[in-house]
Amino acid sequence: MHGRRLATLVMVALFGLAGALIVARPDARAADGALAKLVEQCLGCHSVKGLEMALANGDKLTLQVDGEVFAKSVHSRFGCPVCHAGTSLENHPPVKKKIAGSREYSLEMNKICQTCHAPIFELYEGSIHASLFRDGNSYAPVCTDCHSPHAVMAKGAYDTSTGAPCSKCHDPIFKAYAGSVHGQATLGCANCHRAHDVTPATAGDRLKNTCLGCHSDTLASHQKWLPNAKRHFDAVACPACHSPEAKRKVDLRLYDRVAQQRVAEKQGVPQFESWARSADAKGAGLDAMALHSLLREFNREDNRTTLRGRLEVSTGVEAHQLAKSARAIQDCTTCHQQGADPFQSVTVSVVGPDGRPVRYGAQPEVLSSIISVDSVSGFYAIGGTRIKLLDWLLALAVLGGIGVPLGHLTVSWLVRKYAKRIGGKEDS
Ligand code: HEC
Ligand code: HEC
Ligand code: HEC
Ligand code: HEC
Ligand code: HEC
Ligand code: HEC
Ligand code: HEC
Ligand code: HEC
Ligand code: HEC
Repeated sequence: MHGRRLATLVMVALFGLAGALIVARPDARAADGALAKLVEQCLGCHSVKGLEMALANGDKLTLQVDGEVFAKSVHSRFGCPVCHAGTSLENHPPVKKKIAGSREYSLEMNKICQTCHAPIFELYEGSIHASLFRDGNSYAPVCTDCHSPHAVMAKGAYDTSTGAPCSKCHDPIFKAYAGSVHGQATLGCANCHRAHDVTPATAGDRLKNTCLGCHSDTLASHQKWLPNAKRHFDAVACPACHSPEAKRKVDLRLYDRVAQQRVAEKQGVPQFESWARSADAKGAGLDAMALHSLLREFNREDNRTTLRGRLEVSTGVEAHQLAKSARAIQDCTTCHQQGADPFQSVTVSVVGPDGRPVRYGAQPEVLSSIISVDSVSGFYAIGGTRIKLLDWLLALAVLGGIGVPLGHLTVSWLVRKYAKRIGGKEDS
């Protein structure tokens, strides 16, 4: 009984397999043949040079498709119809649907990519590029801006040392990057920024953590010569020391001390710039009083907005000129000295609606004015910020061998006490 069932099963299986071989293989071949023939027919017209179509806004859509390149692309085995289901030999030319312009056409057609690559589309949806795109920025890349429609290659073809596809739009950064330690080591942009879920460069700690992901013993190696290296890593962007020729500056970020994150503009109600502009009546950049009244606007309802300083490079290009570490800034006086350069250029910022910072210029005096002690108390670089009382105390703490962490605590405590006194004076 058992044996007979097994025999029947085997027979059925063999029959099925044979059937599949007999029926399916020639069928598939026929389908391949038909598909190949269709591709040829499409290309019969679409390989013609100069074939164009006039669009509603006056754009000309170039209709030529390079058949040889397409044949080498990852999608060649699908033929044309998989992405152009609405377009057949029977129904065109002419094209009856109305096409507003070439960008509109590309955006509409890009929806096809997500039908097969949904997980990548989801990553992309969370990116700065997608949010720029949703805000109507017509330069923000969609799938085919980076991959092309008909010459889509395997993963390894992207983000190579040629900089493609990123260099197409970020060429000055690519040129600077190509000469950097990482460009020389032929890493690509996506090694730090990723390809699809690219986030704003200054958002959170993601970029810094990416550096530390590859350079894992870095904190320990800096601790050998840099006191409180962790605090330096928080307050000084890596390129500020590793891009030796860069111009450095200070960005004072509005910070919510309860939520412990940077203050972001409320969706749809941008207040920062208009408040900053009205505080800065002379238009010369916020001075200490103006900064004080800007903060008061933010603190009107709940007293939780403060400032967190960060020392960074002035431009995106300079962030990509990282040199061999032998050339990195090690001299403490680059920053810890009265009148030190990095503290002569100051901005105040919040996180804008798309995640990139919105900055407003401030005068360097905001870092040293007594009025600012309260608001910039979370940021004092000995010497650099020139709040003398703090310098003196910290120097004493460090020299006196109390140790930096303890020194830091002492200073924080004193600042708080001192700030309260200023606050008190103001209230009366
Ligand atoms: C007889 C020549 C010819 C053949 C064959 C042909 N096309 Fe076209 N195609 C055109 C012309 C001409 C236009 C522009 C029509 C216009 O200006 O109204 C066009 C426009 C298009 C467009 C752009 C507008 C749109 O509908 O999105 C696509 C895509 C397209 N063809 C794909 C195909 C595909 C896929 C095939 C094969 C199934 C194919 N074509 C076969 C001549 C041809
Ligand atoms: C993987 C999907 C995909 C396949 C396969 C595909 N196309 Fe396209 N095609 C697109 C997209 C997307 C666009 C919109 C153009 C853009 O975004 O730049 C497009 C645009 C076009 C256009 C308008 C001109 C242009 O380049 O913008 C023509 C003509 C066209 N395709 C013909 C073809 C033909 C012929 C084939 C087969 C040889 C084919 N396509 C295969 C996705 C595809
Ligand atoms: C800003 C440029 C850019 C955009 C926009 C973009 N890609 Fe990519 N894509 C890349 C790069 C670069 C790679 C190479 C992967 C890497 O280096 O990590 C890649 C890789 C891929 C891969 C290979 C598999 C993988 O997991 O990485 C697929 C599939 C892909 N992209 C599809 C898409 C689709 C679909 C879209 C639109 C939703 C899209 N890409 C938008 C740049 C881009
Ligand atoms: C019909 C489903 C389908 C559509 C539509 C489609 N793809 Fe693909 N794509 C695939 C498949 C399947 C592969 C894997 C091909 C292979 O390995 O032979 C692939 C491979 C890729 C790769 C290379 C992946 C790798 O790991 O090397 C990229 C990049 C890519 N597609 C981007 C796109 C873009 C951009 C679009 C829109 C213009 C698109 N795809 C539309 C099915 C699709
Ligand atoms: C070694 C890591 C790394 C690599 C690789 C890298 N970047 Fe960056 N990128 C950064 C850092 C760090 C910043 C600055 C962040 C900050 O200010 O805190 C940045 C900032 C940016 C910005 C914002 C610039 C601005 O004006 O504020 C863009 C755009 C950018 N990178 C694009 C690219 C492109 C394109 C490539 C490839 C050519 C690339 N990056 C390669 C680390 C990297
Ligand atoms: C089709 C054009 C285009 C391509 C291709 C492109 N980008 Fe962008 N990208 C933009 C635009 C436009 C912005 C917003 C303006 C700006 O910051 O330059 C932007 C912004 C960014 C930002 C955020 C900048 C900030 O201020 O924080 C980063 C990071 C970035 N791109 C990285 C990349 C990387 C990595 C690639 C390649 C994988 C890439 N871009 C490819 C157009 C492009
Ligand atoms: C205050 C300036 C300063 C800051 C901030 C700084 N570095 Fe450095 N870094 C240096 C100097 C100086 C050296 C060389 C030290 C030596 O040769 O002993 C160095 C060495 C390195 C090296 C090579 C040696 C090693 O430790 O592996 C790497 C990698 C590195 N830094 C990464 C980073 C990263 C990542 C960050 C940000 C999280 C950062 N650095 C922040 C100044 C700085
Ligand atoms: C994908 C891994 C990777 C990431 C991410 C990365 N690096 Fe590197 N980094 C390397 C490689 C590989 C080299 C070249 C080999 C070497 O000199 O160690 C290098 C070299 C360096 C050097 C020169 C080291 C020396 O001894 O001269 C510094 C400094 C450096 N990286 C800093 C950074 C900073 C800052 C970031 C983040 C903005 C970062 N790296 C992100 C892999 C990475
Ligand atoms: C590129 C600029 C830069 C360089 C170079 C630099 N620092 Fe700093 N340092 C800062 C900044 C900015 C702060 C403020 C950090 C804060 O308040 O968040 C700081 C803070 C400090 C503190 C206070 C730490 C604490 O616990 O609050 C000490 C001590 C210090 N630095 C010592 C040094 C010494 C010693 C060197 C040289 C070996 C050095 N720094 C190199 C920018 C720098």
